[in-house]
Amino acid sequence: MALRQAQGDTAAQGDTAAQGDTAAQGDAAAFDFAGLAARLRPQCEALVAQYEQPRSALLPMMHLFQEHQGYVSQDAMRFAADLLGLSPAVVESTVSFYTLFFRKPVGKYMLQVCRGLMCELNGAEATMALFREKLGIGHLETTDDGLFSYEEVECLAACDKAPCMQVNLEFLYNLTPAMIDEMLELMRTGTYAIAPMVQTAKPERTWKVGQDAQVALGGKSPGTLNATDPNNAGGVGDASGVIMLDRFVSKDVAFTARSRERLVRDARAVAEIVEEEGANGHAGH
Ligand code: FES
Repeated sequence: MALRQAQGDTAAQGDTAAQGDTAAQGDAAAFDFAGLAARLRPQCEALVAQYEQPRSALLPMMHLFQEHQGYVSQDAMRFAADLLGLSPAVVESTVSFYTLFFRKPVGKYMLQVCRGLMCELNGAEATMALFREKLGIGHLETTDDGLFSYEEVECLAACDKAPCMQVNLEFLYNLTPAMIDEMLELMRTGTYAIAPMVQTAKPERTWKVGQDAQVALGGKSPGTLNATDPNNAGGVGDASGVIMLDRFVSKDVAFTARSRERLVRDARAVAEIVEEEGANGHAGH
């Protein structure tokens, strides 16, 4: 099932232009960004011409560079900022908003598993544990051979097919352990239906960047207190998220006096509405 979905979704992958950029694989210093930018400039200008506002071309332009360079480099962001008349900060804040963009070199297969509520309720936790065990890496990490990168992401908007994930941004639905086993095996033998991503630089073990790295050095936000890794906040790797879920389920949550007061008030209001509706003959409608 996964393979059929993947095959259907990836017919356009592996175009010759993208393959041409793999010549510098594994050698970051040799990568000729100026050459790439010169080659892609006409496509970028065509993108800009499609929109009323030049800035609307930013996302497709970043996808284009990622397709050819394997990630969205600082060079690519600077190029886009110049061409679109935007500040580098605007470009970077846009790119960093999406899990669709990778701001550092990543593995040839980017595995992004959904950890949203519907996927959690349908077995995402077991799915994530399986990936971690099979790959020997955690959230935001890349295997030493540069083949796999792994990330736990928020809702992928395919909740009706949970648990789900994206492989190189292509969707896979209704994941099962057997599908995952088969998928990883085919990726290792280079025969998987989804084409590997272009890799123009060797990925580091972790691809946490900027703000993430800063947070890891201290100054955790309240939601990530006691999390071993703030990048894992809310996911299976985040003990505080799982513990909080357990506490809700077992009704072991210590409400503050203020929140308790509000709950009582809300409950009273509901009771009054029900009573009023009963008196007006609306009960049961
Ligand atoms: S919760 Fe996983 S797709 Fe929505």
